[in-house]
Amino acid sequence: MRPSKAMRANGGKCSRLQNNSCAAYASRGQVSGRCRVVSDRVTEQQGAALGVPAGTPARSSCKQELADRPRRNRRSEVFRDAIRETAPVKPANLIYPLFVFDDVVEPDTEREIASMPGVRRHTVEEVVAEVGEAIAVGVKQCVVFPKTPDSLKTRLGEECFNKQGLAQRTIRALKEAYGDEVYVHTDVALDPYNTDGHDGIVDDKIGRVLNDETVEMLCKQAVSQAEAGCDCVAPSDMMDGRIGAIRQALDEAGYEHVSIMSYCAKYASAFYGPFRDALDSAPSAGGAERKVPKDKKTYQMDPGNFREALRELEADEAEGADVVMVKPGMPYLDVIRLLRDNTALPVAAYHVSGEYAMTKAAAMNGWVDERAVVMEALTCFKRSGADLILTYYAKQAAQWIKEDNEA
Ligand code: PBG
Repeated sequence: MRPSKAMRANGGKCSRLQNNSCAAYASRGQVSGRCRVVSDRVTEQQGAALGVPAGTPARSSCKQELADRPRRNRRSEVFRDAIRETAPVKPANLIYPLFVFDDVVEPDTEREIASMPGVRRHTVEEVVAEVGEAIAVGVKQCVVFPKTPDSLKTRLGEECFNKQGLAQRTIRALKEAYGDEVYVHTDVALDPYNTDGHDGIVDDKIGRVLNDETVEMLCKQAVSQAEAGCDCVAPSDMMDGRIGAIRQALDEAGYEHVSIMSYCAKYASAFYGPFRDALDSAPSAGGAERKVPKDKKTYQMDPGNFREALRELEADEAEGADVVMVKPGMPYLDVIRLLRDNTALPVAAYHVSGEYAMTKAAAMNGWVDERAVVMEALTCFKRSGADLILTYYAKQAAQWIKEDNEA
């Protein structure tokens, strides 16, 4: 708090507080810091008339001389609504992540995801229907995550740029069904496609995820998604230099209108566990003859780092990102605020699978009020500076918002 004029005159102390705690009350009761013991208390009879329990300090003996009472502005629902600093979350702010599987190559795929109750793996047809329902409640953006059949996974992950790949077919189907009514984002990274479950190519002699070699693959992947008709590619891999390389590859292929949403500050987080269940894309075990890193810490950011997000932001801005994302969401609101205060670009937050799983589990146990908790979380994303929120709750939240608006 900046010291007020009165405070400065008072040697930096707030005179209101001083009056309050000492001088004004010294004669009325015992003063100990700011906590007074008052002499007069409400009797049983007075209490019944006033609506307070007997023993409540009598108003005359406890009244504080306060000019500033923040609770005045919270008194009325009408006024709270009028002065709320954060605009209500709109369905338009939400991006709906969707999982697709190949029902021809792997027809036995489980639809349910054990760690994400309420979220399903869809066929291409079902995704089209699901997106239709989302559009109907105002959620017009989605991001597609393919569960690549095991038989199509390789060490290089070439399936990622197959014109007939699952992601490419899904993008085409969505665009054929809804055209410009839907804004389709895609995931650019190798983890759903390579046998090692890493976002890049693994050199198993030294146990390293290669950077520049991977970027070449990512460029082909992004171009192939653009060719299929997506609106925005979202590189989630955290390789150095990939935004610039992808921008150049898209431009050279004639897709200068296709946007890039960069997973800018993406942390090496345990909150992605359920997502890796959904796609069966967790890093593989490696073995004696093959060194495969067991986690993604050599490319995703360390959860303890804050300043480093600025370094990623600077690179992504210089390389041509259109949107910058922070991921995970709720434990990283400070990073969202950091990016918001340091860029003119739109900022996105990813309310990730582990956050969904935790909320859902508590809700299913009756431990939290799911609707209230989810809407509060979304509001907090906006308050921290996010313009866009990727959330598995997108369709559900939009339905709740619609109900609220109609009430
Ligand atoms: C793939 C990718 C991941 C997520 C989005 N894209 C997993 C990972 O990086 O391991 C996580 C999303 C979520 O947990 O909801 N690169």
